[in-house]
Amino acid sequence: MTHQIFVFDAYGTLFDVHAAVRRHAEAVGPDADRLSAIWRAKQLEYSWTRSLMGRYLDFWTLTEQALDHAYATVPSADISMKPALLDAYRTLDCYPEVPTVMKALKASGKQLAILSNGSPEMLASAVSAAGLDGLFDAVFSVDPLKVYKTDERVYELVTTHFRAYPEAVSFQSSNRWDIAGATAFGFRTVWMNRTGVADEYLDLPPAAVLPDLKGLTALG
Ligand code: LAC
Repeated sequence: MTHQIFVFDAYGTLFDVHAAVRRHAEAVGPDADRLSAIWRAKQLEYSWTRSLMGRYLDFWTLTEQALDHAYATVPSADISMKPALLDAYRTLDCYPEVPTVMKALKASGKQLAILSNGSPEMLASAVSAAGLDGLFDAVFSVDPLKVYKTDERVYELVTTHFRAYPEAVSFQSSNRWDIAGATAFGFRTVWMNRTGVADEYLDLPPAAVLPDLKGLTALG
């Protein structure tokens, strides 16, 4: 089956979440990588725990709170860089292959969308900064639902909008837990295993695994 609707996770899949700290790595100090890893891990943890508690705060607020915790955990990192890091997070770099792959998919007639935990403002700013304006038919944020991935209502935003069955949608994410949620919902899933990590959620496997987005056009 060829798929006409291609939906992408944003952070980690299109946009490099570690680009913010990398941009200022020298000023942040020698523990910059550790700060970045804790920042991302806590941002995601807060999304899952708050969904379970029914205590939604938007993704930008979680991103700020996660950075505060990362700084508290890594006191050697230069705290005066905090505003610059948050600014950089609003304009993250996309991965190098993203513009070419998106343009090729669009040229072959696919409908393209983003489905993300990110708040609408964060997503609009990231898409613009990466030069991806005009490529996506839809950008879905969880924000109207006040719940995060992997709640099935999040994935349902796509099928409702496009009036499509889940299996008609190809969903791409570099987050294995997001792939598990999307597979459970019924999407055809493609895992971008960008960093070569071990597989998990073995009962909810992706249909395909790629090292990055290149090669997606050949999958159909
Ligand atoms: C997102 C998170 C998972 O973009 O990175 O939804």
